[in-house]
Amino acid sequence: MDTSPDSLDFLLSDAGATEELAAALARAFPGAARSAAVLYLCGDLGAGKTTCVRGMLHALGVTGLVRSPTYTLVEPYRAGAMNFVHIDLYRLLAPEEIDELGVREYCEPHYLLLIEWPERGGLRLPAADVELRLEYAGSGRSASVSARSPHGRLWLENLAHDTSLIPYVSNLT
Ligand SMILES: Nc1ncnc2c1ncn2[C@@H]1O[C@H](COP(=O)(O)OP(=O)(O)O)[C@@H](O)[C@H]1O
Ligand SMILES: [Mg+2]
Repeated sequence: MDTSPDSLDFLLSDAGATEELAAALARAFPGAARSAAVLYLCGDLGAGKTTCVRGMLHALGVTGLVRSPTYTLVEPYRAGAMNFVHIDLYRLLAPEEIDELGVREYCEPHYLLLIEWPERGGLRLPAADVELRLEYAGSGRSASVSARSPHGRLWLENLAHDTSLIPYVSNLT
């Protein structure tokens, strides 16, 4: 039996459900021992990307304020042996700017890159392990989590087995 789906869909009825999905993504995170892990967060303005990054970082042990790096575009965090880099490319003017942000320096073991608006960075960005797509759905949101690499598939598999999600978000699949 194939127990490793390529994507999982969720209905997130309010911001609390987005935070629960974020916490579940953090619990499912398989680490970055051998190379950087990369999460893309896609969706319109207000879809809940930053809410999700904030929820994940707090669940992964980052303390203090997590705000979208709207002007600096990049905000690094640390917790224990892990480094986290929140990247928001909404205001990126051209993909060439990526090179100046030093994104390449973060492509190292023990780094997790969380990238909002990755489509603006194009091929200059490191490839995603997991892609999270958030969309408006009535007063709530829908979320689709897709694996884009073998490491991402492991992440998704862990998420699929995280039954504690069930009371908070409805899995559409
Ligand atoms: N599932 C949800 N249902 C309704 N509102 C949500 C949901 N998830 C997040 N929000 C709210 O949407 C607003 C915008 O969220 P934000 O994370 O800043 O979006 P983005 O980073 O995608 O622009 C916030 O007020 C947040 O609380
Ligand atoms: Mg945002």
